[in-house]
Amino acid sequence: MTRILVWGAGLGAQALYKALGVNAQCVTAYVDADPDKWGADWLGRKVIAPADAPGQAHDFLVIACQAVAQVREEAVRLGLPLDRIVPFLEDPAACLERLGFDVCLYSEHMELCGDRVKATPITHPIGTKMIQDVAPLVPVREQQALVRRLLDAYLRARAETANIPPLYRAGENWGMLLADTARALESLDPAAAVGPVTETLNNFCRHDASLYIMGGRQEFKRFCKARSLPWLAHNFQVWQYSLDPAPDLREAGLPPIGNPYGVLVDGALINWNSFPNHFRAANCLRLLADVPRPVVAEIGGGFGGFAYFLQRMGRPVAYVNFDLPENLIISSYYLNMAYPDKRILLFEDPDLALTPALFEDYDILLMPNFMVPRLANMSVDLFINTISFSEMELAQVEEYLAQIGRTCRRYLYHENLAHIPPSYKGYPARVFPAVPNFRELSVSVSRWMGLDAYAVNHTYLEHLLVRQGLAL
Ligand SMILES: C[S@@+](CC[C@H](N)C(=O)[O-])C[C@H]1O[C@@H](n2cnc3c(N)ncnc32)[C@H](O)[C@@H]1O
Repeated sequence: MTRILVWGAGLGAQALYKALGVNAQCVTAYVDADPDKWGADWLGRKVIAPADAPGQAHDFLVIACQAVAQVREEAVRLGLPLDRIVPFLEDPAACLERLGFDVCLYSEHMELCGDRVKATPITHPIGTKMIQDVAPLVPVREQQALVRRLLDAYLRARAETANIPPLYRAGENWGMLLADTARALESLDPAAAVGPVTETLNNFCRHDASLYIMGGRQEFKRFCKARSLPWLAHNFQVWQYSLDPAPDLREAGLPPIGNPYGVLVDGALINWNSFPNHFRAANCLRLLADVPRPVVAEIGGGFGGFAYFLQRMGRPVAYVNFDLPENLIISSYYLNMAYPDKRILLFEDPDLALTPALFEDYDILLMPNFMVPRLANMSVDLFINTISFSEMELAQVEEYLAQIGRTCRRYLYHENLAHIPPSYKGYPARVFPAVPNFRELSVSVSRWMGLDAYAVNHTYLEHLLVRQGLAL
């Protein structure tokens, strides 16, 4: 068995421990310069002083802290062989390969044998980063009829914006973010627009049309350059712990729509949206387990990731997305491509009443945000809003929450900011107005790396509210 000595008994060592999975048993000790840690137990092993490192049998020294050059120098000065020193954080995959281990995600199957737990490790091989182009499900030239319909719905929604109450116009943050998209769409000659819009939608994951809902061009570049994906092992584990039974990893895979990129794990394409969106969908349906065909409505559905998983879970469900028109066209494309056989309603008529009878007729309804007041009283089982209310004007949040109080008969689940970064105009969830007729059931810090308590300025809270009087 390869013996590994680890330099650093902090967060880097924790990340290494997770990446090693079942091979973590190969670690013999942790070395740390902090005398307060010497002699303590850390991840099941002793922390030792640097001076004791040469006496500790090992095949490799893995540096699991940031100060790589400094530690390497000190280790060599202590007599450790340079060619056996491997840094971890700058390229975890290369480190694991150097140690002779597969690059994997790990999960466990656990069962009770008498009063003991038997844990069987399961490995999920991590393949290459998928950054080459992904061919669409349907050839681009065959998508044009759909894109024509999406553009018509968009243009109808935009034409309505002159008549809608100011509360339903994009607020300051999103008004600025979407100005370029709106300008680009409106500068196109409607007769000739289908071609370029089809091209954009086919590539939206890597295009600025998806800025702030998927990440756009810069995010794609960052992903291409990144040598480590710290969120991957962490969020996979969180996802496994959050759902019972723990799902098969392939369930979180992304479809080949919009030229997605990510990493191939067990053959499934995974990006940072995969686990959160899959979890949210499974969790909402878990709350609605005894509702035969629930109506789930979302405000600000982004590119459609939550809805994609909601519809994939095999339960009959009516889903309604209310979003700003520039982003709605993207989720409309995504869901139409993913579910060509589902009954999907695009925006046509601003006077349409969104009633239970209509929800019987459609599986997916894609509506501009100003259609929320058209919802019938008590017609929705669950509302969801993620990473979105905090970015709106407070008066808009108040309006949406009042509408939810009027229209929702069971749950409101939302994830919004715990605090506001300096120089950002937005609102933490704690200052949102009360939702009429609802009470808070639970609130906790986001489970996902990047949104959690360690995410500087981007900590989110997961809120679950329930309609007063609902029998639980
Ligand atoms: C950061 S994205 C989050 C998208 C998605 N919910 C997610 O978690 O990935 C914010 C979403 O809120 C939407 N949004 C912003 N202002 C809005 C408004 N006034 N009404 C409805 N949706 C709005 C945006 O268009 C976008 O889809």
